[in-house]
Amino acid sequence: MTEELAGTDGWRSVTLEDVDSTNADALRRAQNGEKGPLWIRALCQSQGRGRQGREWVSEPGNVYASLLLTEPVEPGRLTQLSFVTALAVHDAVSSCLATVAERPELTVKWPNDVLLGGAKISGILLESSSLAPDCNVLVVGIGINVRHHPQTTLYPTTHLRDHCPKADVTAVFEALVEAFKARYEQWRGGKGFAEIREVWLERAHGVGQAVRITLPDRTLDGVFEALGDDGALILRMSDGTQYPIHAGDLFLQNTGRDATPQGDE
Ligand code: BTN
Repeated sequence: MTEELAGTDGWRSVTLEDVDSTNADALRRAQNGEKGPLWIRALCQSQGRGRQGREWVSEPGNVYASLLLTEPVEPGRLTQLSFVTALAVHDAVSSCLATVAERPELTVKWPNDVLLGGAKISGILLESSSLAPDCNVLVVGIGINVRHHPQTTLYPTTHLRDHCPKADVTAVFEALVEAFKARYEQWRGGKGFAEIREVWLERAHGVGQAVRITLPDRTLDGVFEALGDDGALILRMSDGTQYPIHAGDLFLQNTGRDATPQGDE
């Protein structure tokens, strides 16, 4: 199955039955001259990619999608796009839960996860490739758990149908496409990242709380004090110093809620 649709705004989308990874597919298309904006959605993936080189389990029933953009976004602003994307996912999931009477809290977790009732419902992986000195390709990869979630994970995980039994994977994808466009335009115009950062902070998990950040080679404990202008997590260490962190995994400390790292996703 390959169904290509053109939106009225010039953003196209293609749906594939099966692919290794929609991010990998987007990067291959870019190498073959595709400029986007193009959404590539797959019903399942055989080699779904997660952050920090982890696997993203991708059985049919969930959203697996990547947006290919060729935009003059300077590398320094790339991180900002992950906050734009997290807000878009938050908006999309929120709209799908609009009719749910007892709706659990929906939050964003640094750097770019979305949590429903404190459990991860979505993951985002941004990849970029420089095809020429002035041509950067951006791939915004998004997974949203709709019908199921993996059992062995780094972080407690959930899926939409646990809270909204009628949630439909295509409707969630369509809500995502719409929400992303709106947040992207908010970021590109107006107050740009300042506005995105403010909205993100209103929905954020763990700000002002004791957290543990796991990095590939160590862990850091401190208080999640602020979000820097560049999207860095500002950690207040026990000696009073501030430490900006640009990539890592965040866990709340001493709540019994956030799990200790153990699995893949
Ligand atoms: C994470 O580890 O939290 C990020 C997971 C990102 C998964 C999505 S699914 C669609 C896209 N294609 C991939 O291979 N990965 C991303």
